Amino acid sequence: MTEPTPEAQSGLLWTYLKGYHAVHHIAMGTEMGLFGKLQEAGEAGCSSADLASSAELHAPYVDVWCRTGHHYGLLEGGDDGRYRLAPFMDKLLVDAADPRHLAPYVMTTARFVGKDLEDYPNYFKSGGTYSFQDHGHDFTRHIGDTTAGFHNVVARRMIAGIPDMKDRLEAGALVLDVGCGVGGLMIKIAQAWPNTSCLGVDTDPHGIEQAQTNIAASDVSDRVAVEHIGGEGIGHEAEFDLATMFEVLHEIAAEVRPQVMQGVAKALKPGGALFILDETYPSNLDQLRDPAFDFAVQTQFNEMIWGNIVPTVEEQRELFQGAGLKEIAREPIGGLFTMLVAVKE
Ligand SMILES: C[S@@+](CC[C@H](N)C(=O)[O-])C[C@H]1O[C@@H](n2cnc3c(N)ncnc32)[C@H](O)[C@@H]1O
Repeated sequence: MTEPTPEAQSGLLWTYLKGYHAVHHIAMGTEMGLFGKLQEAGEAGCSSADLASSAELHAPYVDVWCRTGHHYGLLEGGDDGRYRLAPFMDKLLVDAADPRHLAPYVMTTARFVGKDLEDYPNYFKSGGTYSFQDHGHDFTRHIGDTTAGFHNVVARRMIAGIPDMKDRLEAGALVLDVGCGVGGLMIKIAQAWPNTSCLGVDTDPHGIEQAQTNIAASDVSDRVAVEHIGGEGIGHEAEFDLATMFEVLHEIAAEVRPQVMQGVAKALKPGGALFILDETYPSNLDQLRDPAFDFAVQTQFNEMIWGNIVPTVEEQRELFQGAGLKEIAREPIGGLFTMLVAVKE
């Protein structure tokens, strides 16, 4: 490793400051619909004055927002005085169905996590928590938007890659979604596999209420249901072909995790599988600086006052073992998550 210089260290801090401002630039552009309008303008682009006029905003401020967006590489300014979205920013910032859609994560960071972080000094003194569920209805909705882009990929591709699962899904598998949130993943699974039925459980009343609304508004309401119970309260036995936990394991209170895992194992039929997509925390100091763990380290920092503890690979394996589940797949996904599959033999 090369010796750090004062200039390099200062550059590191300036990079972080730029990132902070860029996050707010993206959040306000998303909130005010500016990225969406630039996407509509397409290749022709749009002047900052026209953008301001169509969004009914103060033109000089929108002009600075456009110039700053060009500086950040989010927009492409042209010699014709018009701005366009930079390559792929339509997918990343506007297209809600794209798995790479990042705008909701930026919004959650700027509008909710930012507020939590401001209060951290108080929590550091008190050791108190402000749980996921305490954040309320809008926060739960934003989290549902954040995970939505990935649901299609999980529902159509990833779970079908579990050995023998495609046949079961086609034949009419029963699916248990632990920590179902607002129900997005179950709706996508039921739509992708017309013979399946899904049951979702969650401790968050805001999630269950919105899941009920979303399910009722979907075309699969006869095959998807929710129960307002924690994973630790699952009472089913040998009924489900597949259990899913998307961004859930690290959110389950550490003291009830063994109980949840045992309840899931009990609910699975023999040969049934548990599919997990979640962060894996570094097990040592070297891994803390390994970019493969960036998202896990960030999640642990952002969510510690929610009471969340991101499990290490060792902790994940101990949970499987304690529940009599056999890990059959472990794969890094998109530089963010670990995909885990464990089966009940
Ligand atoms: C990040 S959200 C993910 C929601 C959903 N899986 C999705 O893809 O949008 C984590 C969810 O886990 C839920 N959760 C936390 N502890 C739980 C428990 N013990 N049992 C069931 N759900 C739990 C939270 O209430 C929250 O809805």
